[in-house]
Amino acid sequence: MRITLTVNGDRVEQDVPPNVLLVDLLRDTCDLTGAKVGCDTGQCGTCVVRLGDRSVKSCQMLAVQADGAEVTTVEGLSGDGELTPLQEALWEEHGAQCGFCVPGMVMSLTDLLEHDSAPDEQAIRAGIAGNLCRCTGYGAVVRAVQKAVKDKS
Ligand code: FES
Ligand code: FES
Repeated sequence: MRITLTVNGDRVEQDVPPNVLLVDLLRDTCDLTGAKVGCDTGQCGTCVVRLGDRSVKSCQMLAVQADGAEVTTVEGLSGDGELTPLQEALWEEHGAQCGFCVPGMVMSLTDLLEHDSAPDEQAIRAGIAGNLCRCTGYGAVVRAVQKAVKDKS
């Protein structure tokens, strides 16, 4: 099936078999490897991207379901190598985590901050409830979001 979507501002037109996952289209066709496949069962959140103004687990969507949509991956968040305030705060608070889990966390948290400009700790933790870290935990990530919120106010 021929689909057309916008990925990080670029138009992508592609023939895709109906069973191709959105995450595989992004990684294999668009060469955007920020979104990872950590579980393939919707549990880990490494594949989170934004579809329009909401975050989605791209391993749980077929590419054809994104036909006509605007997709943003972690690569599309910042232009010209500039980090977003959230990414800056993650860096400064040592919440950058590993390359496997953090892209999905960044996308989930970006979504959170777009819908709630001043989330409390409970809301921050709820915002990344679908993003699993298998090693370091969530403390630095929470502090980073609090910092990003504070710096903005
Ligand atoms: S790979 Fe999508 S939730 Fe784990
Ligand atoms: S899985 Fe990335 S830091 Fe834990």
